[in-house]
Amino acid sequence: MASRMPADAINQAARVLRDGGLVAFPTETVYGLAADARSAEAVRRIFAVKGRPTSHPLIVHVGSARELDGLARAVSSEARELARRFWPGPLTLVVEHANAVVPAVTGGLSTVGVRVPAHPLALELLREFGGPVAAPSANRFGRVSPTSAAHVRADLGNDVDFILDGGSSAVGVESTIVDVTREPPRVLRLGGLAVEDVEAALGVPLAFELHGSRAPGQLPSHYAPKAEVVIVSPLELAARAEGISARGARVCLLIHEAARQSVGPARIDREIVLPSEPSAYARELYAALRALDEHRPDVMLVVLPDERGVGRAVADRVRRAASPR
Ligand code: TXA
Ligand code: MG
Repeated sequence: MASRMPADAINQAARVLRDGGLVAFPTETVYGLAADARSAEAVRRIFAVKGRPTSHPLIVHVGSARELDGLARAVSSEARELARRFWPGPLTLVVEHANAVVPAVTGGLSTVGVRVPAHPLALELLREFGGPVAAPSANRFGRVSPTSAAHVRADLGNDVDFILDGGSSAVGVESTIVDVTREPPRVLRLGGLAVEDVEAALGVPLAFELHGSRAPGQLPSHYAPKAEVVIVSPLELAARAEGISARGARVCLLIHEAARQSVGPARIDREIVLPSEPSAYARELYAALRALDEHRPDVMLVVLPDERGVGRAVADRVRRAASPR
């Protein structure tokens, strides 16, 4: 995959999609694995490459909010308001679908998840392709999502037909999913858009359904690095590290600046210190989990950032990674 001028790369990626191929593309949240959402064969390949159960629906990506009308059976005023406020951006809206994508995309549900991603190359690709693109995160099922082209290459290698390199993802965790077919709208996944911002836009508190079986990212043990993940407070860190090291196990630590300053020396084989601001922590979270995993630790200790804004999605992902597998 030689580097090319962006326009060239966009044209080539769009051609791959038209031919029923798979394109890994950058979004502001994580990299997606794209296929033509109107092609049953192309969508089948997504599930095959990811190793993902076919009952789990995929998010449909479009280049502008106008395209929601062609995908949804009806667009409520709430859906329209959220699209107007937050698209392009890290928000997926679940709406009743209009049969505009193949059934494999929706997993046989009557609804479809739709979003307009906020990454210039993603938007160029979607506009050049001109149709709906089904795209889960571009990783193997159950693993940490990719936030760079190098992560995609490491996970999927030659199983993708084209990788569009758009640098590191600016948000770093997946989109927030809101089901607007429910009253009040229901959050199905915490993500890159703060729930507080959605509530402020609608003027009502949202409902939550974060453990639904239809959402693979909502399985307790999703987003997992290979090491055992243990969430710790700064206070208990040194004792936990000591105990694990004493039994001969390798310990890695993911922590943030403010917390790091509050703890003394600890028996850690390798550590990564992220910014304390939750959105900055989120941006680097998955790359840090991957980098620490490369040291093959037995245990990865994690000190979470504040659980406000995107910090709630960070805590959600790390808790899932820490659940029994
Ligand atoms: O940020 C993102 O959303 C990334 C980028 C690539 O856009 N995509 C992503 O896709 O995270 P994926 O497939 O890894 O997660 C899709 C989530 C799943 O949890 C799925 O169950 C849920 O969206 N979903 C999709 N359609 C749905 C529907 N109709 N009803 C309920 N959940 C749905
Ligand atoms: Mg995923």
